[in-house]
Amino acid sequence: MQDALIEQLCVSPIRSLQLQRRPYPHHPSLQAWDSADLLLLNELKQADLLERTSLLVNDQFGALACNLSRWQPRLWLDSAVEILACQHNLELNQLAELQMVAQHQLPPQAEQVLIKIPRSSALLDWQLAVLNQQLPLGTQVWLAGMVKHLGRAHQQVIEQRLSHCFASRIEKKAKFWSGRTQAQNSLPTNKLLRLESPWQLALHNHPGLYSRDSIDPGARCLLEHLHLAPQAGKVLDLCAGNGILGMAYQRLQPQARLQYSDASSAALISCQQSLAANGLTGLCHHTDGLLHLDKDFELILCNPPFHQHNSVSTDTAKQLFTQARAHLKPKGQLLVVANRHLPYHPLLKSRYPKVKSLAKHPKFSLYLAGS
Ligand SMILES: C[S@@+](CC[C@H](N)C(=O)[O-])C[C@H]1O[C@@H](n2cnc3c(N)ncnc32)[C@H](O)[C@@H]1O
Repeated sequence: MQDALIEQLCVSPIRSLQLQRRPYPHHPSLQAWDSADLLLLNELKQADLLERTSLLVNDQFGALACNLSRWQPRLWLDSAVEILACQHNLELNQLAELQMVAQHQLPPQAEQVLIKIPRSSALLDWQLAVLNQQLPLGTQVWLAGMVKHLGRAHQQVIEQRLSHCFASRIEKKAKFWSGRTQAQNSLPTNKLLRLESPWQLALHNHPGLYSRDSIDPGARCLLEHLHLAPQAGKVLDLCAGNGILGMAYQRLQPQARLQYSDASSAALISCQQSLAANGLTGLCHHTDGLLHLDKDFELILCNPPFHQHNSVSTDTAKQLFTQARAHLKPKGQLLVVANRHLPYHPLLKSRYPKVKSLAKHPKFSLYLAGS
């Protein structure tokens, strides 16, 4: 069986559906829903509240949206990958389109909220704070997550941000909470970091940003060797986060024209605010990898993710390396930093005629790939 054809039958308390993850192909052990989705749907059904207008938050691959589609829920999502996966699964099951809003915009109104608890408790905190501000006081909020991915911080955030909190039993390794929005105006603020000499960059890290509290060690390694990067005019910082790599490159090569792309709304906001704080400019894209971007970059800088939600995976890196090749000029190059244990060298070798190791580091590898 070809990986690309993997779609799995999700049988919920409401209906049966074919669901597919994104990116595909993906590792066959990964699934597009979990028992936290089923628990949320079951609780809603038991409470006889299916017909109320629901706002779905963090519905990663559309399991909730597809199940509830006939009641036309609205979605509020951080990731462009989630938006595309939800659209794809609605189409796959011949269901009508739904309203989807990215989290760099305000959430749509609804009578109740269903939240798949995200990995980052800081992101959950920010999402609940925004919902408290935007939805009527006392709006019912239902939350669920897989126990192994939930920490004390998640529980504290739920208890602090919602009133009438109630945690239910654990079922099939998933845990469910309910609560209500309450009057509370303080949004969690950005974490401000400073990258010192020679870069002199201010970094604005939104609550949901990857590596929000410190500079990613892979990024630090790339910065130490950035002087080895080729000189280029049109440059993309792919998976930009707060834009640290692109902004640092701009410091070395002030004539370069930078663009930034990341799938996460939290990253988009962080990147735009960091650029402004440093008096820099650059187009910022909220998209899955290089989807809809120009095809004439001379250099692409990338510190790729090796997690998708709670799973460790090279699926996204594979997709990014393939896409990047199609978005480079003929002599363009891709500069990648990665943990040494990740098998990126063969992945790059199978996609690029030339792959050079740029530097040796005890924990990271730096590759320059091109033709
Ligand atoms: C390891 S972080 C790198 C962030 C920043 N460039 C740095 O070096 O600190 C990986 C980033 O990839 C983003 N990301 C994950 N999947 C993505 C995808 N499919 N397309 C674009 N960005 C993605 C995440 O939101 C995250 O900001």
